[in-house]
Amino acid sequence: MCGIVAYKGQKNCYPILINGLKKLEYRGYDSAGVACITEQGKITVTKRSGKVKQLEDVLKKHGMNKKCIGGIAHTRWATHGRPNQINAHPHIDESATIVLVHNGIIENYDPIKKFLKSKKVKFKSETDTEVLVQLIGYFYKKGKLNFEQSVRAALQRVDGAYAIVVLNKDEPDSMIAARKGSPLALGINEKEFFVGSDISPIISHTQQIIYLEDSQMAVIKNDNYEIKSIDKDISLPKIVEKIDYKIDDYDKGKFKFFMHKEIHEQVDTISNSIIGRTTEHNVILNGLLEYWSQIEASDKIFITACGTSWHAGLIGKNLIERFAKVPVHVEYASEFRYNRTLVDNKSVVIAISQSGETADTLAAIKKANDYGAITIGICNVAGSSISRETDCGVFTRCGHEIGVASTKAFTAQISILYLFALKLASSRKQISKSAMTAHLDFSSSLRKVRSVLRKENEIKKIALKYKNASDFLYLGRGLNFPVALEGALKLKEISYIHAEGYPAAEMKHGPIALVDKNMPNVFIVPKDMTYEKIISNIEEIRSRKGKIIIITDSKEKILKDLAHDLIIIPKTNHYMFCVLATIVLQLFAYYIAVGKKLNVDQPRNLAKSVTVE
Ligand code: F6R
Repeated sequence: MCGIVAYKGQKNCYPILINGLKKLEYRGYDSAGVACITEQGKITVTKRSGKVKQLEDVLKKHGMNKKCIGGIAHTRWATHGRPNQINAHPHIDESATIVLVHNGIIENYDPIKKFLKSKKVKFKSETDTEVLVQLIGYFYKKGKLNFEQSVRAALQRVDGAYAIVVLNKDEPDSMIAARKGSPLALGINEKEFFVGSDISPIISHTQQIIYLEDSQMAVIKNDNYEIKSIDKDISLPKIVEKIDYKIDDYDKGKFKFFMHKEIHEQVDTISNSIIGRTTEHNVILNGLLEYWSQIEASDKIFITACGTSWHAGLIGKNLIERFAKVPVHVEYASEFRYNRTLVDNKSVVIAISQSGETADTLAAIKKANDYGAITIGICNVAGSSISRETDCGVFTRCGHEIGVASTKAFTAQISILYLFALKLASSRKQISKSAMTAHLDFSSSLRKVRSVLRKENEIKKIALKYKNASDFLYLGRGLNFPVALEGALKLKEISYIHAEGYPAAEMKHGPIALVDKNMPNVFIVPKDMTYEKIISNIEEIRSRKGKIIIITDSKEKILKDLAHDLIIIPKTNHYMFCVLATIVLQLFAYYIAVGKKLNVDQPRNLAKSVTVE
């Protein structure tokens, strides 16, 4: 989704902004632009539809003015108006005085636009963003309000979500950043300032970060800055955090795509999510400590999330119900936020989110907070909105995930849910000490991740065989039904092949009509109590000539006879089987997309962090 980077300081802005935009590419976008200002107040705006590289080439050709003292840049993921050069950001008001970049959506742009048109303001683009910059310009030109007051007055009149950074030709030494609903971080170094929609474009310059809260603005003037309220002209405390980061998160290393790198990182990320959180027969989740007595007493748990994180939620439900015997309701955050809810002040609501910024999940959590529930965040990004809006939480600790298709975050989320389920089971006396000890012995299971990754070439060969199929079915039961959903989602996202995940037995209630000799069916078949049943489901497809791909931990001959392609993974427990099967499906989808020569890290239309509703 849209990305922002801005710089104010004495260095040449252009390289900082262009490199910052490159760091934001992972979020998904369709056009990019940059505006820089000189000490004398000359503003230059350059925009292009397409990739940041195209923008960079134009800038290189026409020269990047080294004398600029501030700049704002943006990658746009179109919402209002087509993805073209005119609609790309930055937008400038009609008097070419105020220039702005914006993430989010101005919901009441239409009446404001009508009002401004009645004042003879002329618009160039189809965007809601231009309405905001024209509104700031309108207040400013009337002459009664200064720059800061004009920004505040405009923001007080808009509904919706925004993160903005604004420059003013008359005050080249000033920069204003503000947020409501969309994240924004301010990086501070000696006499220079950086703004980013996340920390990726900032963190290589400074680790001193202020995460702006909703309804806050940062007002930067010369070498000073203040954090102020959007609602009133008051100064607020500056809460600066020192953020640790690993530079390799932003580097593909030997891999061609981040997704591939991130699949391989699971050897470490799964253990990172567990290490230090277990003893021989106990789980320690320090982030939940303060609320644990209420959590363990609750008999209603809700899980809310979107996309891949929602799939993790379905696995969480199965684990919590299985171990702790507490009923769990899992709901898409976009539904949860509007549905009638049975959430109350005795409920626990768990929000799962890699980015911690997904607009629907954030809204769901705010609703749960309003109902008095205990809210828990399972997030990957420290300092993210969801991690701050929830009462307590657990970080997945898998480092920055850049590939748009989520991989390492998913397996870390299910590890955390596994630990949570066991801890709850133990607190509620639903599990014996010896069973806990057995579950918490990860020593051999973690090694198995590596052995699945070693099967990469085998998986690649199979994937390439099926790269021209137009539809896939993914089928699993119990814990592996969400794994089937996740496998299908991965394939859809990066290869644009239609795929559906179903509970294996449910397939005969409709989807079986699709099966013919061309249709691949991916079965996830652990040797557990569902084994015989799934074999019957496979027979049903096989007898209709469907192609059968089986992922299993069983070496029985019957599977070899039934499968056109068989991938055998090491024997392990239920939870780890899901993880290992997921990794196979991630590689399978990856190699199909690579075989189709697609841009795996930036699939069309998708955004990494979905910060609009
Ligand atoms: C799929 C994917 C998305 C996200 C979803 C929620 O690969 O990445 O489906 O899982 O947009 O995002 P988060 O987890 O950041 O809330």
